[in-house]
Amino acid sequence: MQDHLIIEGGQPLRGSVKISGAKNAGLVLIAASIMAEGETILDNVPRICDTEVMVEILLEMGVDIHWKEDGSLSICPPGHEIDCQTPYELSKKLRASNLFLGALLGRQGEAIVSLPGGCDIGTRPMDLHIKGVRALGAHVDIEHGYIYAKRREPCGSRIYLDFPSVGATENLMMMACKTPGSSIIENAAKEPEIVDLANFLNSMGAKVRGAGTDIIKIEGVSALKAGRYAIIPDRIEAGTYMIAAAISGGEVLVENVIPTHLHPIIAKLQEVGAIVRETDQGIIVEAGSKILRADIKTMPYPGFPTDMQSQMLALLALADGTSVVVENVFENRFQIVDELNRMGAKIKLEGHAAVVEGTRSLYGARVKATDLRAGAALIIAALAAQGETVIEEAIHIFRGYENIIEKLSKLGARIK
Ligand code: UD1
Repeated sequence: MQDHLIIEGGQPLRGSVKISGAKNAGLVLIAASIMAEGETILDNVPRICDTEVMVEILLEMGVDIHWKEDGSLSICPPGHEIDCQTPYELSKKLRASNLFLGALLGRQGEAIVSLPGGCDIGTRPMDLHIKGVRALGAHVDIEHGYIYAKRREPCGSRIYLDFPSVGATENLMMMACKTPGSSIIENAAKEPEIVDLANFLNSMGAKVRGAGTDIIKIEGVSALKAGRYAIIPDRIEAGTYMIAAAISGGEVLVENVIPTHLHPIIAKLQEVGAIVRETDQGIIVEAGSKILRADIKTMPYPGFPTDMQSQMLALLALADGTSVVVENVFENRFQIVDELNRMGAKIKLEGHAAVVEGTRSLYGARVKATDLRAGAALIIAALAAQGETVIEEAIHIFRGYENIIEKLSKLGARIK
């Protein structure tokens, strides 16, 4: 796998780009598939490093999982119990491996899941996940870097999440599906990926209601039946290409999207002067005559997504005026600032806020992708920068963007 990306800036992006399946939906649906009896076939799973790690974890746990010729992913767990421990060497590469906590407890009542290590975008505690699975009747010990969870007295319960955590909501939905009685998750996350998980679970015979609202109600069932399911398009990948179109001075049709999922991003793009049109084919983004300033606060869905914050910083670096971007979800999401400043941006940090003084131009530089979305932001900045940008540690970008070099090249970017 390539380690560096080299981008020659100054080329307006034109044409159309087809968005892949959602990374964050794909990851949780792969985990949830082990709860079903029989072969699950998932369509639209992006072939990116993160999903490949998920596949490797399941192979090590003894699940028959493979990519089929038509691009779908087949997951067929055995009729007997599987190894209930997620291997540390693989889990440390991928925070989403913690989703096996709920999936394994739902499947066979026992899970040994590696605690997530330090993460580039901030501390990622598991307290809400643990509180929730305990409420559903699991006994939990934390030892030697692992969460040991065993179903003791499974019983539906009412769980209030102090923060609408995506991962905690997903783990509890999966476990509650197979827990006898009624469960209620209050202050649940409302992200589209939560709704996709609920639809998937219901397609297998689960009884989940209210996904997409603050309160999710689940009636436990004794068995789930495997089937075929296509995951939703990736709203963050779509948003990234939309910003790339706006910053490069081009016009791009973004195909295979669900526009409502993109409203928080579309609203900000329009605020900064881009022209956004919804059509039957997808969303067209055309750069405005200049980039206007805007303030942004990241929030759980339907607020502005933290996963789009870095890309927006790159755009606002070239705005006419000063913008303030407040990060409310992950505290370390501003590592990108030093890298953007190396390209001529004028961004200052004040605690959880970045103050972005717009500048007329950015220039190419040697920079480093500190995390997935920071890497995407560097690509966006590089597309508009004068001269050549070399992005090191591009592996972070391949974790989440399928065929990004091919897709950008097709739009006219000079990238290799
Ligand atoms: C998911 C997404 C990630 C996205 C994030 C927020 C996946 C695979 N990843 O991550 O791309 O950026 O949602 O939209 O879907 N928290 C606690 N205790 C917990 C759990 C979380 O305090 O037990 C805090 C976290 O530290 C963070 C906030 O809650 O500050 C949000 O985290 P969460 O929604 O859980 O994110 P993830 O599910 O890890």
